[in-house]
Amino acid sequence: MIIAIDGPAASGKGTLARRVAAAMDYAYLDTGLLYRATGAKVLALGGNPEDVDTAVNAAEQLQPADLENENLRSEDVGNAASRVAAIAQVRAVLLDFQRQLAKSPPGGKHGAVLDGRDIGTVVCPEAPIKFYLTASVKERANRRFKQLQEKNPAAIYERVLNELEERDARDSARDVAPLKMADNAIHIDTDRLNADAVFNAVMAHIRTHMGED
Ligand code: DC
Repeated sequence: MIIAIDGPAASGKGTLARRVAAAMDYAYLDTGLLYRATGAKVLALGGNPEDVDTAVNAAEQLQPADLENENLRSEDVGNAASRVAAIAQVRAVLLDFQRQLAKSPPGGKHGAVLDGRDIGTVVCPEAPIKFYLTASVKERANRRFKQLQEKNPAAIYERVLNELEERDARDSARDVAPLKMADNAIHIDTDRLNADAVFNAVMAHIRTHMGED
């Protein structure tokens, strides 16, 4: 069983996917981490995330330990991730790993929850349950800003908003596997829903799908 959760940056898909995986006892893969780890590797080498050879090399050399790097959540790494993610060869390198995990979840689990931008459209188009989470860019910037402010009181809202707008544009406009809702995905607009309400709505859909209601 594969559950696909896609959506733009800061739409809450990570929090949701982790909770759904725990509730179902499924494996969880945050596919954004693969792009973040690739972007972080390029930055650590002083390279340009838009340089094809550098980015492809970084993706090919990814090790499991690279996904544990504590800096992966920073906005700089997020921006680098979004740039390497626009390169078709980088996506091709990371595709097999994602499909393999979806097909044979580690730890003998009976299913996997994958979150990202192209899970329902490209990585696992056959997934029987797909969600597409959205929220307005202002709402997402608010949420991200509040998180940042807890760590850094000097965070600037306008900067967060601008960076999200830039990332949305890049992730949606790229030629290869752009952010896009799959035709058969369930769309959830989270603007007026808190994390619990989104989780409950998603779990209700999953139970219905599994014939438990
Ligand atoms: O979800 P995130 O913010 O951690 O993702 C970081 C970047 O990685 C995002 O801006 C676009 C890219 N990405 C992607 O292109 N495809 C995915 N399946 C996941 C992430």
